[in-house]
Amino acid sequence: MARKPMMAGNWKMNNTIGEAVVLAQNISNNYDDRWEDQVDVAVCPPYVDLKPVKTVFEFDRVPCAVGAQNVFWEPSGAYTGEISVPMLAEIGCAWCIVGHSERRIYFGETNEDVNKKARALLDGGINPIVCVGESLAVRDEGTTIEFVCAQVRAAFAGIAPEQARRAVVAYEPIWAIGTGRTATPEQAQEVCSAIRGQLGEMFGAEAAEAMRVLYGGSMNVGNAALLLAEPDIDGGLIGGASLQADSFVALVQACL
Ligand code: PGA
Repeated sequence: MARKPMMAGNWKMNNTIGEAVVLAQNISNNYDDRWEDQVDVAVCPPYVDLKPVKTVFEFDRVPCAVGAQNVFWEPSGAYTGEISVPMLAEIGCAWCIVGHSERRIYFGETNEDVNKKARALLDGGINPIVCVGESLAVRDEGTTIEFVCAQVRAAFAGIAPEQARRAVVAYEPIWAIGTGRTATPEQAQEVCSAIRGQLGEMFGAEAAEAMRVLYGGSMNVGNAALLLAEPDIDGGLIGGASLQADSFVALVQACL
């Protein structure tokens, strides 16, 4: 089955509203008519930038979705500092990253938290981008596949196949994030294929074939083509290279 590729930018904690609007405008100025049908494009700015960035794309009628980088699973209440699914939905967020390794490492996010967030998003009509990936220690131990598949099982626990299909999984080896050290296409393919196998065990082969698995971790214009040529890599989750319009747009074009 042909899966529609996806290219998503994870801006992390970068860009004030003013900077975010300029970057969105620069992406919008370089968009290609083929994006609409041939690739899902999304950018995930900080919360405060979501509405302004969404407004730029809407005004310019550019088929670029916006996504958040995190969410809390309760719909409202006394949770100081948190943002809920209905708040993101009202802005028109189509996507939300969950379980990014930076959230797991710096903010103590557990597999159970990731599962609660993914379920709340799916119930609220927002598609999760579920991040998984091993540390260098796990890779050196030779237990990468087991580790990553356990993260997938935990993130998708209790989710029905019809709902799971709307989610995207991003395989992001921690040792490749922001380091300039990309996984080789073979390393990335091996894990992305195992992730699809795990999804197949949980949701059936047909659903697993329909679900997108992205690669993330120092993906850039120079290495994207070979990664995207692998059969189980359906796109990218891009950090550093998504902060400049020209490199992000070039990565989107690499999906066409
Ligand atoms: P990077 O980040 O492309 O800068 O390695 C990817 C990510 O963390 O999503």
